[in-house]
Amino acid sequence: MPTIILAIESSCDDTSFSIVKDAKICSMVVSSQKIHEKYGGVVPELASRAHLQHLIPTFMATMQEAKIETDEIDCVAFTQGPGLLGSLLVGTSFAKSFALANNIPLIAVNHMEAHIMAHFIDEPKPTFPFLCLTVSGGHTQLVIVQAPNSFKIVGETLDDAAGEAFDKTGKMLGLSYPAGPLIDKFAQEGTPKYTFTKPQLEGFNFSFSGLKTGIRNFLKKEVNNNPNFIQEELHNICSSVQHTIVEILISNLEAAAKHYNIDKIAIAGGVSMNSLLRKELESLAHKNQWTHYIPAFKYCTDNAGMIAIAAHYKYLNADFTNQLAKPEPRLKM
Ligand code: KG4
Ligand code: ZN
Repeated sequence: MPTIILAIESSCDDTSFSIVKDAKICSMVVSSQKIHEKYGGVVPELASRAHLQHLIPTFMATMQEAKIETDEIDCVAFTQGPGLLGSLLVGTSFAKSFALANNIPLIAVNHMEAHIMAHFIDEPKPTFPFLCLTVSGGHTQLVIVQAPNSFKIVGETLDDAAGEAFDKTGKMLGLSYPAGPLIDKFAQEGTPKYTFTKPQLEGFNFSFSGLKTGIRNFLKKEVNNNPNFIQEELHNICSSVQHTIVEILISNLEAAAKHYNIDKIAIAGGVSMNSLLRKELESLAHKNQWTHYIPAFKYCTDNAGMIAIAAHYKYLNADFTNQLAKPEPRLKM
């Protein structure tokens, strides 16, 4: 009999359920929250309320898509952290109640580990060890993956995440949240004619707060000279910012891969949707004759498929939690 796991993801502003049958995803539904667009970022209280509204309809849609009944589910998994406390609480409470009501085991999953484990949904699956650049709205990490669910962080951001750099730049340009996809779109119509200073750091850590200040000062000066500067130059500004962020990410990824002598590289997380990052990863891999892995778009941004697949590997190791589990907003790998 195959093992059927139900997973829920609710760490930020997406409510998502997925069902995995052995290592195969048989359904996944994501309900996104539009309410945050006008605020320029996720409003935690609004996010947890929207999760409560989306919870049951998203669960029902996932069950229907998989064509299974509640009593066929062997285990339930949830995102324990990192994330927003109120948002995590909705998913954690659902999973604990579901486990108790159906007398099945419970698995807690780390959201950032799950972004990496998304590579184990489709073929070709990575072989070990591989180096993964995980870039999302809240995190930027370089991780050596030694085995399923075995991770070693070798670099991370000291301040803002790469996704935050996109989103905060978007806010300065008057774009709606999240601005990453819009900057990517506009950048394709422009050229990277403006240069911004990149951080000089020891080791393989990242920093994006200096870049943010650099962009703010640049825009202030240019808008002083020409009030229409942003409208007239939007595409070139987006292209220049995207170029700088991707260059920071790719140069660190290359240096770490060489230092640790790893020839398999991957990207994960929402920013791995970025077209330039994907293109640059491909050329980097080609130049160095490395194998590279890029997840399907639907498994880059927050989704429960990645929670389900991470839970599948934890299930094989009998890595269960219990009713004392609570959300951990700052959960570490
Ligand atoms: O992984 P994710 O869905 O949520 C977190 O765990 O944070 O990542 C969301 C982030 C946002 O900052 C969003 O702007 C960024 O991913 N993003 C992109 C693109 N698509 C999403 N950034 C750059 N280019 C994109 N195409
Ligand atoms: Zn995420």
